[in-house]
Amino acid sequence: MIAYGSLPAHMQREKGVTGYLLFSLGTAVIGSLQFGYNTGVINAPEQKLRSFFNDTWMERYGEPISPGVCTVVWSVAVAIFSVGGMVGSFSVGCFFALLLRRRSMFLVNCLAVIGGLLMGFSTICYSYEMVIAGRLVIGLFCGLFTGLTPMYVGEVSPTPLRGAFGTLHQLGVVVGILVAQIFGLEFILGSEKMWPLLLALTVAPAVLQCILLPFCPESPRFLLINLKQEEQARKALVRLRGTEDVTEDLQEMKEESAKMAKEKKVNIAELFRSPAYRQPLLIAVMLQLSQQLSGINAVFYYSTGIFASAGVRQPIYATIAAGIVNTIFTVVSLFLVEKAGRRTLHLLGLGGMAISALIMTFSLYLKDIPAMSYMAILAVMLFVAMFELGPGPIPWFIVAELFSQGPRPAAMAVAGCCNWTANFLVGMSFPKLVELCGPWVFLIFTAFLIFFFIFTFIKVPETKGKTFDEISRGFGGPPPTPASPTEDPVATSIKMSSELYVWGPD
Ligand code: GLC
Repeated sequence: MIAYGSLPAHMQREKGVTGYLLFSLGTAVIGSLQFGYNTGVINAPEQKLRSFFNDTWMERYGEPISPGVCTVVWSVAVAIFSVGGMVGSFSVGCFFALLLRRRSMFLVNCLAVIGGLLMGFSTICYSYEMVIAGRLVIGLFCGLFTGLTPMYVGEVSPTPLRGAFGTLHQLGVVVGILVAQIFGLEFILGSEKMWPLLLALTVAPAVLQCILLPFCPESPRFLLINLKQEEQARKALVRLRGTEDVTEDLQEMKEESAKMAKEKKVNIAELFRSPAYRQPLLIAVMLQLSQQLSGINAVFYYSTGIFASAGVRQPIYATIAAGIVNTIFTVVSLFLVEKAGRRTLHLLGLGGMAISALIMTFSLYLKDIPAMSYMAILAVMLFVAMFELGPGPIPWFIVAELFSQGPRPAAMAVAGCCNWTANFLVGMSFPKLVELCGPWVFLIFTAFLIFFFIFTFIKVPETKGKTFDEISRGFGGPPPTPASPTEDPVATSIKMSSELYVWGPD
């Protein structure tokens, strides 16, 4: 893994890193920030939203909302975001097939504007349904961007730095969560009056991205491979790389195009039917489930409530601290993943999370002892840190490593959809589970974490430093595509590395 900042100037030039490239990447990563922002934004204003639901109910029916109904409306408002995400992540392929990358991003931003306005005007219209509808539209928007951003980033980045730049997506997500937590402070936008603006603020980066996008290049890979416009692709590359000599890039893209033409595309039905994909598919899905059923989003959606019930006096600051730990450990993981290996880090992360969840349970149970609120804060920090070490970033990119060129897009769609579905289940059920289980609620996640730890220990192979060929042989032979990547000198030479840490153009 090469961190851009660590490269000497002459190497940066050689690798084609220009200000224009960084500007284009920065513009695209606004989409990842949006995903993070909307994941984290609902956490802080929970009580304000609940009292808004109550006011609306009073206005309509002349009586206060029952606590049970209020919890259901609240959970729906939180979790419907993931329903939108499921649909969005699954349909991102259609966008790619039909539209230019920049135009896709431009159009998808309309959803942010619609969703933001719905939520922003909900109090004026006395309608909690508008909050729910807005969250659904925003979820759709984020689901689409979880495919669009990494795809564009992968396509404009120089090949040797595709992995390093690919990690910008997850970094964008965690920074977005942190920004949402800070803006959610009572004296910024988290107050009784300002929370609709807090939710509507997602419109601003959408507009900003629309203003900046016309100055970004269209993806040269898309121009060349999909539209066969070699001259246009060359022009875009010249601007991105800051040099007239882009023959190497063009050649690499042509090879990729030839490789794509050779390998059979595998659709989702075939992916499930073929025994050759059974093992990798099981692993990909289980890893996505391990990410979400670890309970991470119970923390990111509801940590303010968790801290409050553990007796923390200023829960919002503890939530922000969790966001800072989250960001720091994402960076730590970027540096560790190529050294320690995926399997080791995932196991370490799951094990560490299970222990933290036990400590959290303990501190919630003993919350009457004053020191326990500190214990709860520490446990949440450890939980988040362990998550970003492995279960956070690894499931997203290991899918690309487990599948070859042909089945990769189908595997990505299935994995993405499983991730968002599990995200939905946790978001939806957590408040009800808290009501039912009280301080014991994190034991449910502990059980899942132990299960996924055992699964990973038994089933997940180490993919670090292996070629596609070595990985597929590990699963009992190469997949039955007419031209497996092993026959392709380009593919065989590609070492499994962070370069695949993108939903790349492949
Ligand atoms: C991952 C998860 C997302 C979670 C985030 C927290 O990107 O997919 O659901 O909110 O990590 O950092």
